[in-house]
Amino acid sequence: MSRYLVTGCAGFVGSTLVDALLADGCEVVGVDAFTDYYPRDLKEAAVAAAKSDAAFDLIEHDLGSGPPPAAALEGVQGVFHLAARPGVRASWGHGFEPYLHDNVLATHKVAECAAQRGLRLVFASSSSVYGDALAYPTREDAQPAPVSPYGVTKLTCEHLLRAHSRNFGLDYVALRYFTVYGPRQRPDMAFARIVDALMAGTPFEVYGDGRQSRDFTFVRDAVAATVLAMRKGTSGATYNVGGGSEATLRESVEIVEELSGRTLDVRYTDEAAGDVRRTLADTGRIRGEIGWEPAVELRAGLGSMLEATGAIVPAGRDND
Ligand code: NAD
Ligand code: UGA
Repeated sequence: MSRYLVTGCAGFVGSTLVDALLADGCEVVGVDAFTDYYPRDLKEAAVAAAKSDAAFDLIEHDLGSGPPPAAALEGVQGVFHLAARPGVRASWGHGFEPYLHDNVLATHKVAECAAQRGLRLVFASSSSVYGDALAYPTREDAQPAPVSPYGVTKLTCEHLLRAHSRNFGLDYVALRYFTVYGPRQRPDMAFARIVDALMAGTPFEVYGDGRQSRDFTFVRDAVAATVLAMRKGTSGATYNVGGGSEATLRESVEIVEELSGRTLDVRYTDEAAGDVRRTLADTGRIRGEIGWEPAVELRAGLGSMLEATGAIVPAGRDND
């Protein structure tokens, strides 16, 4: 039976990955520090189902302060490293220090440990390493030029992995996720806020003119790419993981309004520092090398998110 370490196991993508691995019959040991980036109760809820599964062990541990404990590594075949301080907009000013701790220092320790033990490491990098790309769709060999401190830390992590590979034979695969959404999405992200505002009848604040676009990626697609990367990814490769569902924020709001039959109170405010205007992944490499492609388009994915929060009733179920 396969056993894997998942760091950041109580987070949005990490907990969804844990559930998928358990459903696939794997054993999972999860490490998470339950950092204060957003409330702990959301993370506890995300990992609650996994905790009731005998094939899952949870270790609360801060990877920026020390490498994964020995108990987390016993019998594992690979490491999914998703632990990080995410979010583009909070990484300026005093906010930057925890990004160094949770991203750069933690990844350095995890990389060292995986190299020493000969474990494959799959790393959750980000489309934010591209900054305002010069070409769309953007290929992995485009010159990275992050425009936020967060993006700089994720690119630094990629470089750390390459250095550990070159010098100590680390076997790693880096995945550049493009704006992931779906049930359990972090509360600072646009779609989670849109759904919350819709449910509460409160305003949704758009940063800028709402014409910025993202290659939105449904979380189960991102997780499928992550599992495939562990099993089939080329050692040392970087892959874009983009959902193929580019949409502006305005278009996304319209879809949510159509699906829910409600109107959102949208307010426009200043553009956010570090925000890129557009993302769109060229996914030719990951399709060609490991056969991954996204399966869930934006309307369906937003529908699942609305169903998960009770904002709409799944098709085929009674409304009463
Ligand atoms: P998340 O905040 O929900 O999950 C990250 C988890 O890591 C949290 O539970 C947190 O407590 C844990 N963590 C943070 N620092 C830690 C530390 N020092 N030691 C141990 N655990 C720690 O974020 P997410 O949206 O699920 O993102 C998961 C990964 O994917 C991150 O690496 C993020 O940078 C990357 N990513 C996410 C997106 C996205 O759209 N969600 C896009 C690109 C990349
Ligand atoms: C997301 C994640 O938050 C990052 O962790 C990740 O690294 C990045 O994707 C990525 O793909 O690399 P972002 O694209 O900013 O970052 O995702 P959202 O937070 O969902 O924001 C999408 C757009 O909506 C942005 O332009 C943002 O400014 C805007 N937004 C967000 C608002 O207008 N209002 C809000 O309340 C929240």
